[in-house]
Amino acid sequence: MFNQGLSLDQAPPISVPFRFFITAPLFGIALGLLFFFFPTDLLINRYSSVAIGGIHLFTLGILSMIIFGAMQQMMPVLAGAIIKKPVLFANVVHTSLTLGTLFFSASFIFEIKALLHVGASLLAIAFLTFFAVLAYLIFKVKFLTSTVNAMKLFTLAGIITSVLGLYLAYSHISNDIGSLHYNFVYLHILFGLFGFATILIMGVSFQVIPMFYVALDFPKFIQNKIPLFVLTVLIVFGMFLFLQLDTYVLKVLFSVFFVLFCVHGLNSLNKRRRPVFDVTLWYWKLSLTFLLLSMLNWLFVPQDSYFLLAIMFGLGFLYSLLQGMIYKIIPFLAWFHLNSKGHMIIPTMREMINEDMIKLHFFIYTASVFFFMISPFLSNFFVIIAALLFIISNILFLMNCVMAANKYAQIAKTNPLDAFTQG
Ligand code: HEM
Repeated sequence: MFNQGLSLDQAPPISVPFRFFITAPLFGIALGLLFFFFPTDLLINRYSSVAIGGIHLFTLGILSMIIFGAMQQMMPVLAGAIIKKPVLFANVVHTSLTLGTLFFSASFIFEIKALLHVGASLLAIAFLTFFAVLAYLIFKVKFLTSTVNAMKLFTLAGIITSVLGLYLAYSHISNDIGSLHYNFVYLHILFGLFGFATILIMGVSFQVIPMFYVALDFPKFIQNKIPLFVLTVLIVFGMFLFLQLDTYVLKVLFSVFFVLFCVHGLNSLNKRRRPVFDVTLWYWKLSLTFLLLSMLNWLFVPQDSYFLLAIMFGLGFLYSLLQGMIYKIIPFLAWFHLNSKGHMIIPTMREMINEDMIKLHFFIYTASVFFFMISPFLSNFFVIIAALLFIISNILFLMNCVMAANKYAQIAKTNPLDAFTQG
């Protein structure tokens, strides 16, 4: 495994992934606040422009932000691929993604078209820079693992998602919403959520679940074939849409792939070889269960508004998993960097972030997802409660990450040799 040979000069400075992780909950807070300033009916109607803006606070500000940050850390660790100028690269990608998301979302939320020009241009810089460098590095990797292969597919899916997104943005800028517009939107959504997000999550899980939780490996068939099948069916889905063929059979295929992944993931986590308690497992289990439920919902429940499905997939599956992953990555990185700098007295990985705070965050976050989910059946009032809890959970997430960063910075400032003089 590459991580065993990872040295400090190969890993990016800790500030590189941290800045992405700390920015994501800020976008979460912004998303929650939207519910206090705009009518709920508008926000849950996916065709409204406020909803498009809100959705991208999530897909760009949270999802892409965490994925971009984590990838810069994981490329050397999981793929042995090293970004040459990590700080410059992070500066360009982080700044353009943050500002691009703000301008893009604001242009839809406040219906100011001029902002869309700026937003789309900045997003083009963020995505094209990120994927150009990633493609260059990942397609050169010689030692091919299932994770590296999934990262390649993720790169292709990410490029297709962003090109489709930029094309859609251009259609809005030029007021040219043609008859095929919603085919492109549908493809953009599927490539984004299934290709860009889920394929990467699968690929990373193949290594991270056994590594972090001393758990069983995924079966070889799942590791080697499922990500490839997902990308293939995405491409076939595009053809079906434009040929106006019924896509139900393809939805069944996606669901089978994801259900297989979830069942094996949950099985691996439940049959860990070293079953010590770890609060981040709650996030993983919640997330995989929600992926299962979302697929069943997508297949069997006729969709009126897609709101329930969006909550289950976006918050239940994606955001839960990313939070669980960050709570594992941050302590690991802090420990790794301090250890590599020669510090002897380092808090253990479990002491880096207070476990009770992570639990509190988990409960509030889960309650928020629950209230969002019951709101379509009961009343919009529950959306407001859910949004409030969502804001609080993001504040807690931010605090936990910042506290770990501070703990790291304080120890990093000290001289490692002090440990000897004190003793
Ligand atoms: C360069 C980056 C991106 C740009 C410029 C972009 C642009 C757009 C635009 C203009 C729309 C509106 C389509 C319409 O209804 O007319 C849209 C919809 C959508 N995009 Fe993106 N997008 C980007 C990245 C992403 C990513 C990475 C994801 C997910 C991982 C995503 C998920 C979605 C979803 C779910 C919708 C549907 C919104 C709705 O139905 O209300 N986008 N995108």
